[in-house]
Amino acid sequence: AKDVYFNWNITWVNAAPDGFERPVIGINGQWPCPQIDVDVGDQLIVDVYNGLGNESTSIHWHGMRQEGSGVMDGAVGVTQCALPPGSQMQYHFDITEPGTYWYHSHNAAQYPDGLRGALIVHDPNAPFEYDDEFTLTLSDWNHQQMPDLLSGPVVLGGKEPFPDSALINDSTNTKIKVLPNKTYLVHIICIGNWPGHFWVIDGHEMTVVEVDGVYTEPYPAGDKFLRVATGQRMSVLIKTKADTSKNFAIWDTMDVNMLFFFENRTMPENYNPNATAWLVYDEAKPLPEPPVFYSIDQSTDFVDDVTLVPADHEPLLEPVDHQIILDTAGALVDGVPRFTVNNKTYIGPKVPSLYTANTVGAEFSSNPEVYGQVNPFILKHNEIVEIVINNHHNNLHPWHLHGHQFQVLQRTPVDGGYYTGLSSNVSATPIRRDTIMVQNHGHAVIRFKADNPGVWMLHCHVEWHVEAGLMATIIEAPETFPNTVHAPPKSHYDACAAYPQPVSG
Ligand code: C2O
Repeated sequence: AKDVYFNWNITWVNAAPDGFERPVIGINGQWPCPQIDVDVGDQLIVDVYNGLGNESTSIHWHGMRQEGSGVMDGAVGVTQCALPPGSQMQYHFDITEPGTYWYHSHNAAQYPDGLRGALIVHDPNAPFEYDDEFTLTLSDWNHQQMPDLLSGPVVLGGKEPFPDSALINDSTNTKIKVLPNKTYLVHIICIGNWPGHFWVIDGHEMTVVEVDGVYTEPYPAGDKFLRVATGQRMSVLIKTKADTSKNFAIWDTMDVNMLFFFENRTMPENYNPNATAWLVYDEAKPLPEPPVFYSIDQSTDFVDDVTLVPADHEPLLEPVDHQIILDTAGALVDGVPRFTVNNKTYIGPKVPSLYTANTVGAEFSSNPEVYGQVNPFILKHNEIVEIVINNHHNNLHPWHLHGHQFQVLQRTPVDGGYYTGLSSNVSATPIRRDTIMVQNHGHAVIRFKADNPGVWMLHCHVEWHVEAGLMATIIEAPETFPNTVHAPPKSHYDACAAYPQPVSG
């Protein structure tokens, strides 16, 4: 175990990832933002200075458990205030779990403007062997900046702005040089804003060994498409060929069902939802042509995460002490298109919820002007919690819970219907992850033990939808505060109070 230290200045830089130049948010003058590599057991320490000048910011460490360090979670409105321009904050926390993670701004739908990067936790005791590794990030990309795109009534389902392109490793021209006859561990991270991505490495058998920081029983996916929803990660093993005479394409297609078909919007002519990268055996040999395709059958044509088994075979958590049913939908709230959780849209607080829980108590309704409308759900320490998410909307939503890897008990296909109980074939050893795609007019059921006191966000990871209030707050074991998790010092809030905080998300 060691300390890994970075000093980051967050600033605007210009970049043209798909040929169109625009300002993006970079780190220390560079974009794409750097990958962080750490080992399990390390402490990560990052000094963040907001050099943007015109926007506030924060950094969230997506998938990190943050046990005892919930105050470092980076979620604006939940665990901290947004950092105003010219201010700084040190994040420091222990890395307790191996696998594939990422970091991103968690302030005002900011990360799709570029402030996002891979966070890989290496593990000498991983239950598989490999010779080398590389990372592929997948994302949608817009030419306009998020504040401009958000200035219209664009966020409710069906009115989101279409992405202008898809990127792999923040580029449309990524080449991964490989050696023959080697086993590679490939980390895939969906760092995008809106659609899920289907991807495949042409001509290579892929074996899934990890999802969202949880090792899986090796799952032979062959050359089937794999889906990553926004926020999700996975690792696969591939064996490179002995023959180096050909190069291969890595194909990625954005889920056009999410972009177009469910909303009865027509796909513009010549719209290209695909990105291609290349696995390069021999630079002197030609690169294969990018394929043209976009029709993905949502129900059968990819590996469904529910079929995976965790390598540690952790048994199904039972019995359930506390069941929470979330009915999620799009709705007009005071004439404005929003999303709701049990008929309430999330409205961000002026004082972050972790501070409120530590000072006023977990009772959030006393002053909505200050404490917002944060859809709070209070859990008791160590109870077994089951959350049902019914998706009444006509699009898919990738739900992410901070602070936990939850068991996935069931997840319906598209139009699979709402929760009426568990089916008889729930796995005795369900897969765990931290983000789950909940399909339209269907539901998902997740479980976890409330063994990580803190105030955690539970939200759809699509930034359009966060801004439209598709979010809840899990207040876990407040009876143990502040012994288990404390709020940042009051001076943090006094400093932030001088700068306008985002209203939502
Ligand atoms: Cu990737 Cu609330 O986070």
